[in-house]
Amino acid sequence: MKEILRQGRVSLNGEVIRDPSFSVTEEMASAITLDGQLIHAGQYLYFCLNKPDGYLTAMTDDRLPCVGDLLPANLKTKKISPVGRLDYHTTGVLLLTNDGDLSHRLTSPKWHREKAYLVTYSGDELTKKEKVLFESGMTLHEKDHAPEKLKPADLEILPDHQCRLILTEGKTHQVKRMIAATGRSVTALHRERIGTLTLREGQMPGEMYALSDEEIRLLKDGQ
Ligand code: URA
Repeated sequence: MKEILRQGRVSLNGEVIRDPSFSVTEEMASAITLDGQLIHAGQYLYFCLNKPDGYLTAMTDDRLPCVGDLLPANLKTKKISPVGRLDYHTTGVLLLTNDGDLSHRLTSPKWHREKAYLVTYSGDELTKKEKVLFESGMTLHEKDHAPEKLKPADLEILPDHQCRLILTEGKTHQVKRMIAATGRSVTALHRERIGTLTLREGQMPGEMYALSDEEIRLLKDGQ
């Protein structure tokens, strides 16, 4: 780095920086160029993982595979963690970041971003009755629990024991509990989307991509 600085290849807003002790603030970081190119030295990282079946949503675990095992070695020290939680067998969109503020906002109950799930279930095919029930904001009556009122959720009934359920809240095991309340059970669950964030075409389970600046902006601005 010192050599690169000495050669005058690093600039901030057009001014060459040669001093290795020059201290860079977070605001400056995105304006630094190397050989005239922005180097995106921002402090935060954002990834969209296609979570595979059979992985815990955790960074480390002594016994079971976890999403932390899927991070490349050079990212393991960056304090990245998953935003929210998908069950062990649930697959699909999982956001990982070291931006604690954003993570906190996205998991807060005040955050009403849509999450779309593709659900495969067993039992009778879902009917218009369940669609109306889900869309009116159902109340869960579960053994040993106080009744729990849910926000309206959009239900699209698909052929072959599948449906697409769009939630705007993230209660624990919410999809499974809603389907169980209709006397059916979930046999496979895949998250297709968080807000506008989806998997990229051809993105295989276990693969992740770094979010573009625009994707980060959309998440932060709440769209
Ligand atoms: N709802 C569930 O029941 N499980 C998940 O993994 C996500 C949402």
